Amino acid sequence: MSLQKHDFPSWIQPDNPGPWGIFLQQIDRVAPYLGSLSRWIETLKRPKRALIVDIPIELDNGTIAHFEGYRVQHNLSLGPGKGGVRFHQDVCLSEVMALAGWMSIKNAAINLPYGGAKGGIRIDVSKYSRKELEKVTRRYTSEIGLIIGPQKDIPAPDVNTNPQVMAWMMDTYSQNIGTTATGVVTGKPIALGGSLGRVEATGRGVFVVACEAARDKGLSIPGARVAVQGFGNVGGTAARLFAEAGALVVAVADHTGIIFNANGLNIPALTDYVAEHKGVKGFPEAEAIEADKFWGAEVDILIPAALEQQITLENVDLIKAKIIVEGANGPTTPQADDVLSQKGVYLVPDVIANAGGVTVSYFEWVQDFSSFFWTEDEINQRLERIMRQAYRSISEVAQQHGVSLRTAAYIVACSRILQARDLRGLYP
Ligand SMILES: NC(=O)c1ccc[n+]([C@@H]2O[C@H](COP(=O)([O-])OP(=O)(O)OC[C@H]3O[C@@H](n4cnc5c(N)ncnc54)[C@H](O)[C@@H]3O)[C@@H](O)[C@H]2O)c1
Repeated sequence: MSLQKHDFPSWIQPDNPGPWGIFLQQIDRVAPYLGSLSRWIETLKRPKRALIVDIPIELDNGTIAHFEGYRVQHNLSLGPGKGGVRFHQDVCLSEVMALAGWMSIKNAAINLPYGGAKGGIRIDVSKYSRKELEKVTRRYTSEIGLIIGPQKDIPAPDVNTNPQVMAWMMDTYSQNIGTTATGVVTGKPIALGGSLGRVEATGRGVFVVACEAARDKGLSIPGARVAVQGFGNVGGTAARLFAEAGALVVAVADHTGIIFNANGLNIPALTDYVAEHKGVKGFPEAEAIEADKFWGAEVDILIPAALEQQITLENVDLIKAKIIVEGANGPTTPQADDVLSQKGVYLVPDVIANAGGVTVSYFEWVQDFSSFFWTEDEINQRLERIMRQAYRSISEVAQQHGVSLRTAAYIVACSRILQARDLRGLYP
């Protein structure tokens, strides 16, 4: 279905809609499966609220700089908004709108009591000092303070934001309302109400759903051959858990290079090496390979856990993996996705596979409300249970309709959101 001019709000260019255009196409694709709820579909095609703010700060050299900041609440039918804050020079309204929409889908697919939101500042962090970044963060938080709050919308880290940025956001919001409100953001440092297990949560979730997918496909994890793109928070944790479970992680790619060992890489040694050398390049006991050999490696499981748009029409034909588990957000282009489906590759989409992070963010928020903190074992067990249940319910829907797991995840998520919309009704 092609999108018409009137499908876009006046502040998005119909001839260049950016990521929001992709989100709209995904929603259109799921509409035929929504039955009577499809009468509410337009709800998903417009964000509930989009706030654009000006962020002026005094730089270290005494001049004044202005930055553009956003907070978009895509849908709040199921609960307060939840989604990260991205600091990047290319952040724009269309991107933040799409990311907020994808958070609505992810939160609903995993059945968390949240709507979807996202924020961002258009800034190149490499050009500013820590003090300048603190000022930008605090002014941004104060400006979006109108619409965020522990019961309203709870930001979290995303690209180029981290626990320190969350600590500044929490402090700024708390200063403005006159009381410490730890629950206004998640992904905080442990000492400020952060949760144990948060750092590893996304990689752990990737591993858990990969085990479920392997079971469905009759593949045993001990001895399975795995390739991982990205050896950071998500890819590094997932690789470690696979290796601990007896899988052979034979290929790892990062921004410095690609390494291969047919007998399985020594992941603890690689982790130490990357901590010291800031990348996998030059790791001993491994052969350096080219990108084509990485994508075409004889593996059972492939984990893209680096960037978006990595599996494309250029490399999709090379792929021999039986299962792909998307650790990154949006690593597969829609065209490559169709080819993978035709090839019979079993793909667990990002909206389920990397939802471990937001799930433990939810635990952090719950713990902050009760000021009672759980052990890491409790957190990991609850995380694993939620991830397994989400995977199971989505794979049942996929079988029922004969569709991919990605379409099934959108069916489950959109049905939950629109059912809430239907039950709540329109006001007035
Ligand atoms: N961290 C989380 O909780 C979380 C949650 C959900 C989704 N994600 C997604 O997972 C992905 C990775 O996030 P992360 O937190 O692990 O980031 P990270 O910064 O810790 O690691 C990123 C990794 O990708 C590698 N990389 C960068 N450019 C590359 C390139 N051109 N080719 C190959 N590798 C490259 C880097 O070397 C690094 O190893 C992102 O898409 C992110 O949005 C992360």
